[in-house]
Amino acid sequence: MDLNGWDFVLWIHLLAMAVFVGGQLFLGLAVVPTFIAQGGSDGGASTWMKPIARRFGWVSLGALLVLFITGPMMASHLDLWSETAMNVKMALVAVAVVLTAIHVFIAKGANHMLQGLILLDSLAIVLVATAL
Ligand code: HEM
Repeated sequence: MDLNGWDFVLWIHLLAMAVFVGGQLFLGLAVVPTFIAQGGSDGGASTWMKPIARRFGWVSLGALLVLFITGPMMASHLDLWSETAMNVKMALVAVAVVLTAIHVFIAKGANHMLQGLILLDSLAIVLVATAL
């Protein structure tokens, strides 16, 4: 076994990816269905849904920042910027950033279709990343 500093950087990148994607899956598969089952905004569920959504937003932002630091470090180190998979990945990352900005600043977190699109885009990023 030959672990070096770059394996550590990849490990941090993958942990941040797990937080970013896993958080979205947990929210979409467990939290939002429970929120809807308890009456959504019309029931009392907003009292716990809003703080969870806000906390999740900050955690996701932190994970994205870590991805945006560790990803370019590895891309430069491995000289991957001109690879097709890297370009496709960056285009999908740009889409995720734009959709997230619309979700947070324009839709104010209320548009479920937008949440689904961000999740699908994130899963596509993970798929393309495996081709790097
Ligand atoms: C500025 C943004 C990003 C850049 C420049 C970047 C770049 C990279 C690089 C260079 C690698 C290492 C490839 C290798 O070891 O051969 C990697 C791995 C990976 N990245 Fe990113 N990344 C970014 C954001 C993301 C995001 C947002 C996600 C997921 C939502 C993600 C998911 C992954 C995964 C799953 C791997 C592991 C692939 C594997 O080892 O098979 N990355 N990334």
